[in-house]
Amino acid sequence: MNKEKIPDAYEKDLMLSKILNVSREYILARKNILRLNSLQQKKFDQMIERRKKQEPLAYILEEKEFFGLTFAVTSATLIPRPETELLVEKILSLPQNFFNRKTAIIDVGTGSGNIIVSLAKNFLAREKNLPIFFYGVDISKASLAIAQKNARQYKIAEKIKFAKSDLLKHFFRAQENFSPLPDSLLIVANLPYLSKKIYEKTPLSVKKYEPKIALMSQKFGLKHYQRLFKEISQIKIKYEFSSIKIFLEFSPEQKKRMEIATRKEFPLAEISFQKDLSEKWRILQINI
Ligand SMILES: C[S@@+](CC[C@H](N)C(=O)[O-])C[C@H]1O[C@@H](n2cnc3c(N)ncnc32)[C@H](O)[C@@H]1O
Repeated sequence: MNKEKIPDAYEKDLMLSKILNVSREYILARKNILRLNSLQQKKFDQMIERRKKQEPLAYILEEKEFFGLTFAVTSATLIPRPETELLVEKILSLPQNFFNRKTAIIDVGTGSGNIIVSLAKNFLAREKNLPIFFYGVDISKASLAIAQKNARQYKIAEKIKFAKSDLLKHFFRAQENFSPLPDSLLIVANLPYLSKKIYEKTPLSVKKYEPKIALMSQKFGLKHYQRLFKEISQIKIKYEFSSIKIFLEFSPEQKKRMEIATRKEFPLAEISFQKDLSEKWRILQINI
């Protein structure tokens, strides 16, 4: 039987701050004198009921913090996870001279756009005229609409091109996507990587509410990355990039399989793995 999830005081404060459109600090300071009108009370009760059924708080609040920014999320998008911030951190800490050449950064499986919006916002804050072109692709139209909304919220919508594509297939087919042609290519991807077995064991809050298309992949969770590697191999032959870097998030038990899949497609590439804050293997970087 599924247990009820009783919202704690912190969650209730966040619900109230959403309903009243004020900060959590405002709610905390006025807790004892706070009065809700009937409409606000109704909204609050509905939020509590949804939470009791284990719906993730982010869907109820329609937003989630990621890399110090607030992202709109809906049931069509995965809720950004803290471990994914590592991908952003790693790319932002690349040596500045890597970006002296024209570089395209493509976020494959952009979801709410949390990765590419965080990257674009931080790079543009460093220097307005860096020759970086930002792209986000996803197979889900509904996700792309949310990603665009998030880019608009941070006033960088004109700096990021979003496109519907099955991995990179349609993106590269539409040549006009790639103009001007960059010298370097940086692919970042947090694609679906849960094996069927692990997906089946995820809690109800994930299985019932988050999109399966964002989470599960065939072949021990590796199918999406294997396909992506093949596509990058073909792109590498077609375009003469001076450098290709790939940054991926994966599930800790896949480390060996990820290494084999990478070696199979890019035998000469430099590869390195990194653990997340809970000491679990999580990030793969490939320099081709
Ligand atoms: C794990 S979610 C990651 C979302 C977001 N990038 C993040 O880090 O929170 C995977 C995303 O990949 C997208 N996706 C799944 N299959 C895809 C495919 N074949 N081509 C492009 N995107 C795909 C899903 O729609 C989903 O948005």
